[in-house]
Amino acid sequence: MSEEKQQVESAKNSFQQDFEKFASVLNNEGLANSGLDEAENLLRELNELRVKHTGKKSELANAKKLIGRVAPEERGAFGLLVQSIEKEIVGAIEEIENVLKNHISEAKIERERLDVTLPGRRPRVGHLHLLTILRQKIEEIFVSLGYSIEDDREIETDYYNFDALNIPEGHPARESQDTFYTTTGLALRSQTSTVQIRAMERRGVPIRIIAPGRVFRRDTPDLTHTPMFHQIEGLCVDKNITMAHLKGTVGEWLRRLFGKETKIRLRPSYFPFTEPSAEFDFSCFKCNGSGIFDNERCRPCKGSGWIELGGSGMVHPNVLRAVGVDPNIYSGFAFGFGLERMCSLMYSLDDIRLMFENDVRFLEQFR
Ligand code: DAH
Repeated sequence: MSEEKQQVESAKNSFQQDFEKFASVLNNEGLANSGLDEAENLLRELNELRVKHTGKKSELANAKKLIGRVAPEERGAFGLLVQSIEKEIVGAIEEIENVLKNHISEAKIERERLDVTLPGRRPRVGHLHLLTILRQKIEEIFVSLGYSIEDDREIETDYYNFDALNIPEGHPARESQDTFYTTTGLALRSQTSTVQIRAMERRGVPIRIIAPGRVFRRDTPDLTHTPMFHQIEGLCVDKNITMAHLKGTVGEWLRRLFGKETKIRLRPSYFPFTEPSAEFDFSCFKCNGSGIFDNERCRPCKGSGWIELGGSGMVHPNVLRAVGVDPNIYSGFAFGFGLERMCSLMYSLDDIRLMFENDVRFLEQFR
């Protein structure tokens, strides 16, 4: 009998040894800080332990087989002993199994929990480029004055870039030092005036358009130059159009942009596609034309009170003839100016290259 008893005791001891690891968990020291993976691993180990200590080949199973072999008068007591040890082992395993399973399901719930009170991730909202914003403002003004907006090609033949605009052969603007040419002899338009010709060919006259767009010149980039920049061209052709209409229109859109007090002035100038020609200036939006701001020389107008903006004039008869319009019946005015220059004056930018460098720290400041 003592031999059999020893076997049962040994089954119990070896279980207890293996179970020690889980016993500490049961005392709830181990699990509190363990994660889901750890608990799942423990559960797997526990199942292995169950097979080892209660399975068919376990010491316990062997001990059970001995029950039939002990003397009949001792069988009852031995049987009870085996049973109680089995109960102990199975019970201990079940208990820890429950603890582990609870822990696992709680950890899973925790992992999937949504904190609906957390602030959302704010999407980074983009915005229009400052040139686009200014362009759209000017477009709106002209649309409200009855103008339509024209867009056209950026690569042109010499005819549209120069000849039709009355720019003769030998004019410095035609030289390849100033204009980009493709290998097949096409020009990247150096001014939006080309759209005057295209638009009149397409729509005929009377016509009122503005044409915003990119232009290209062989300039080395510096504070005030980039080889690509934007212009807005304006054209109005009808019967009896005079220089008074030009002055009225340029004054009107500049007043709408910079305020009622804005004044303009025209200075005689020369452009091949207008006769007479004038450059137009407007009274400085910062110092209201006084030349002084904050007791100092006003910056945008350099103390002159005037800002030079663009070129203009009465459409040259040769330009009208080039598109089949009779200059004895129709007349018109045209103007053109650069958007970057206007932007850098309005926002006091020292370097127009900033507008094309795509640095959001710069761009974000102008919404
Ligand atoms: N195209 C001229 C330039 O790029 C600007 C200009 C002057 C446009 C007079 C015009 C105009 O329409 O009439 O400098």
